[in-house]
Amino acid sequence: MASTTSLISLLLLSSIFLSSHLSLTSAQSTPPLVGGLSWNFYKSNCPKLEKIVRDELKKAFKRDIGIAAGLLRIHFHDCFVQGCDGSVLLAGSASGPGEQEAPPNLTLRPQAFTVINEIRNKIHKACGQVVSCSDITALAARDSVFLSGGPNYRVPLGRRDGLTFATRNATLENLPFFGSSARELIAAVATKGLDATDLVAISGGHTIGRGNCGSFTARLYPNQDVNMDQTYANNLKRICPALNSNGSTVLDIRSPNVFDNKYYVDLMNRQGLFMSDQDLYTDRTTRPIVTSFAINQTLFYERFAFSMIKMSMLNVLTGTQGEIRANCSRRNAARTYVTTLVDEDQEGKSASF
Ligand code: HEM
Ligand SMILES: *[C@@H]1O[C@H](CO)[C@@H](O)[C@H](O)[C@H]1NC(C)=O
Ligand SMILES: *[C@@H]1O[C@H](CO)[C@@H](O)[C@H](O)[C@H]1NC(C)=O
Ligand SMILES: *[C@@H]1O[C@H](CO)[C@@H](O)[C@H](O)[C@H]1NC(C)=O
Ligand SMILES: *[C@@H]1O[C@H](CO)[C@@H](O)[C@H](O)[C@H]1NC(C)=O
Ligand SMILES: *[C@@H]1O[C@H](CO)[C@@H](O)[C@H](O)[C@H]1NC(C)=O
Repeated sequence: MASTTSLISLLLLSSIFLSSHLSLTSAQSTPPLVGGLSWNFYKSNCPKLEKIVRDELKKAFKRDIGIAAGLLRIHFHDCFVQGCDGSVLLAGSASGPGEQEAPPNLTLRPQAFTVINEIRNKIHKACGQVVSCSDITALAARDSVFLSGGPNYRVPLGRRDGLTFATRNATLENLPFFGSSARELIAAVATKGLDATDLVAISGGHTIGRGNCGSFTARLYPNQDVNMDQTYANNLKRICPALNSNGSTVLDIRSPNVFDNKYYVDLMNRQGLFMSDQDLYTDRTTRPIVTSFAINQTLFYERFAFSMIKMSMLNVLTGTQGEIRANCSRRNAARTYVTTLVDEDQEGKSASF
C-alpha cells in the first residue's frame, strides 16, 4: 500500500511538473499554418464538406469500426512519405490499393481506401471536383479519432493531390520501423520537424487498431523482450505460436476500439505491442511524457490534436501545385487527355483543322 501511495504521489508530482512544462507549447492550441492552407478553405465552394465526411464515416464505422484505424494509419503514411499529398492512395504506389510489392508489414486496410473513394464521390457530386483526396484523407483521420471517442479538432485545408507515386524505397525509408528504439524514432521524426512530445502524442494513434504477428514476434522468439509483462507475453505467444506466424491482435488491450489514453497505461504496465511503442516508456527522454498522458487524458487529447495538425501539414502542395483528383486512386493526366480528344472529336470545328 505504502509503495502504491508513493508511486501515485510521484506520478502526480511529475504530472504537475510536466503539464506546466508542456503548457508552454500547448498554450497556442494549434501550430502555425503552412502558407496556402486555411481553416475554412472550402467555406464558399463546398460548405457541407465536413458534414458529408462525418456522416459517411458514421455509416462505415457501424459496418466495421476497424476502418477507423485503417483511415488514421493511411493519413500517417501519406504524410510521412513525400508529404500529405494523397500519394499513398494511388493504385500502384508502395502502400496504396492493389500494390503487389508492398512489404507485408505495411498492410493498409483495402476497405479504408474504398471508403475514401466513396466519400470523394459524394463530395464531388455535391460540390463538383473541388476537394482534394489529401484533404479528404486528413478529415477522415480526424473523424476516425472523434467517432472512436477521441478529441474533435479542426483540420487546416487546401492541400492539393500529388502527381508522383510513393515508391517502395521512399516508403521504406520514410516510415518508422516497428523494431525502432525511442532514440531512433526521435531522430526519424526530427527530420519531419517533429519533436519527442509530438512523437509520443502521435504514437497514441495505437490506441485503436490491430497488428500482425510479423510486427512483434521478434520480441517473443527466440528470446522474450525483458520489457514485456509475462502474462501479456503468454497471451501473445498463444496468438502467434512462432516467429512471424499468421495472426493478429489489438494494439491496445484495455480498450481496443476506443480512442482514449489507455495505450499509455498499457506502456506503463509493459503491455505495449511493438518495440517502438514499449521503448517510449523505457527511454528516459520519452518516459515522463508517456506518464503525463497516462494520468491526464485531457492533456493527451490537446497534445494529440496539436501534433496531428503539425503532421497533417508536412510538405503539402497548395495553390496551383498538383491537382484535384477525380479518382483518389489515380492521377488525372491520362483520363483528362482522353476526355479532351473525345470532346474535340465531337465538335465539328476540330474536323476542319
Ligand atoms: C512512430 C512510429 C510508428 C510505427 C513504428 C508504427 C508501426 C505500426 C505497425 C507495425 C502497425 C501494424 C502493421 C501490421 O502489423 O499490419 C501499425 C498499425 C497502426 N498504426 Fe502505426 N506506427 C507508428 C506511428 C503511427 C502514427 C503516428 C499513427 C497515427 C496517428 C499510427 C496509427 C496506426 C494505426 C491506427 C494502426 C492500426 C491499423 C489497422 O488496424 O488497420 N501509427 N503501426
Ligand atoms: C531501392 O533501394 C535498394 C536498396 O537500398 C537499391 O538497391 C535500389 O537501387 C533502390 N531503387 C531505387 C529505384 O531507388
Ligand atoms: C518489415 O519487416 C521486415 C522483417 O520482418 C523488416 O526487415 C522491414 O524493415 C520491415 N519494414 C517496415 C517498413 O517496417
Ligand atoms: C501463413 O499463411 C500463408 C497462406 O495461408 C501460408 O502460406 C504460410 O505458410 C503461413 N505461415 C505460417 C508461418 O504459418
Ligand atoms: C490535465 O491537463 C489539462 C490540459 O493541459 C490541464 O488543464 C489540467 O490541469 C490537467 N489536470 C491535472 C490533474 O493535472
Ligand atoms: C479509380 O481508379 C482505380 C485505379 O485505376 C480503378 O480501379 C477504379 O475503377 C477507378 N474508379 C472509378 C469510379 O473510376
